[in-house]
Parts: sequence; structure tokens; C-alpha cells
Amino acid sequence: MSKTEFRTVKSSQTVLKELMVPSYANFGGKVHGGVILSLMDKIAYTCAASHVKGYCVTASVDSVDFMNPVEVGDLLTLSASVNYVGNSSLEIGIKVVSEDFREGVVKHTNTSYFTMVALDEETRKPVQVPGLILEEEPEIKRFIEGKIRKQLKRGHRTEMSKIKAEIDLIKEIKELEDENCRLYKL
Ligand SMILES: CC(C)(COP(=O)(O)OP(=O)(O)OC[C@H]1O[C@@H](n2cnc3c(N)ncnc32)[C@H](O)[C@@H]1OP(=O)(O)O)[C@@H](O)C(=O)NCCC(=O)NCCS
Repeated sequence: MSKTEFRTVKSSQTVLKELMVPSYANFGGKVHGGVILSLMDKIAYTCAASHVKGYCVTASVDSVDFMNPVEVGDLLTLSASVNYVGNSSLEIGIKVVSEDFREGVVKHTNTSYFTMVALDEETRKPVQVPGLILEEEPEIKRFIEGKIRKQLKRGHRTEMSKIKAEIDLIKEIKELEDENCRLYKL
């Protein structure tokens, strides 16, 4: 893929609608979070693959905070856009809303960001993705935010690896006294 290829955000924008059927329910009668995560992964792939016109994998998923429960009988609408592209990675922004037809209530379920990486299907190595044509101010804003999120996540991963490598177990065990855990004698 050459770096001179560019596509608009709109060309890969994706909407997925799914009725929440009884088989999606957990023991509490609400829809399983995992069902929603699976639909989010599906739309993230569809949106990324539409931009790339090729194979992609999910590299990471940002934290997903469920703000409202989803009920059986609700219509779930997921909307996805490419927010940011790097060399081989793409950030896909996903918004999920649920709609209760009977009550006429629409609720924002969650928003999350998936990082997808374009791969060569044979070598499984990351490949260059087309650039983004940013046509409106919100698209420019989302691109900048995606770029910042990528830098922050990279920094967090590096920092966490460093911390894990330097953990002093004896010292940290003493700090566990006020935590909600019970230690077996080591
Ligand atoms: C994601 C994957 C392709 C990255 O491979 P890699 O050899 O580490 O690739 P690189 O270090 O060259 O990074 C390639 C790109 O991925 C991004 N990336 C790699 N790991 C990442 C992570 N954990 N989170 C976010 N982005 C990541 C890099 O920032 C880079 O982006 P850029 O090219 O736009 O700058 C590889 O880890 C993989 O195949 N993972 C399994 C994915 C999968 O199977 N998903 C489905 C799970 S069932």
C-alpha cells in the first residue's frame, strides 16, 4: 500500500443494528456485556477492513464502561468511524445506543475505541494503511484525539512493563494489609 493513497472518513463509516433477543440475556434478565463487546468487535473489523480494503486484526480495546443496562427487546445501534490512522494501525471509534420502542427511550450505552492493525494475509506482518481525508472539523478533532490516545497508551504500556519488572514483592506484600485479600503463608 503506498502512502499516497487516501480515503475519506465517510467512505468506511459503518452502522450495525441488532435486536436484543432473549438468548442474549444473563441470569439477571439484562443483555450480556459480552454480546455487546462481540458486536463492537464485528463493527470495528467491518469499518477498518472497509478503509483498508484488506485483512485486519484487533490489537487492543480501550476500557469499555457500560453506562446503562441493555434490555431484551431493545434495538441496539452501533456506529463506527475511523478516527485515526498510523502506519499500519487504525483507531475505530464506536458509539452504542439502545432504543426501547415501547417506551420511546433512547439510551447511550457506551463509547469505546478499538485499535485494529492491517496485516498481510500470507506473511501476517503489519502493512501500510491508506491515509485519512479529513473533511470536517469534528473529523480533524477526532484524528488529533486518536493520535494523543495512541501516544498515551504507548507510554502507559512502557511504564507498566518497567513497573512490573521492578516490583519489590516483600515491600508490596506489606502494603496489602488494607486491601481486600487474604494471603496464604508463603
Ligand atoms: C497486533 C499485532 C499485529 C502487532 O504486531 P507487532 O509485530 O507488535 O507490530 P508492530 O510493533 O510493528 O506494530 C504495528 C502497529 O500496531 C500497533 N500496535 C501493536 N501492538 C498494539 C497494542 N497492543 N495496542 C495498540 N496498538 C498496537 C503499533 O502501534 C503499530 O502501529 P503503527 O504501525 O500505526 O505505528 C500482533 O500483536 C498480533 O498479531 N496480535 C494478535 C491480534 C489478534 O489475533 N487479534 C484477534 C484476537 S482473537
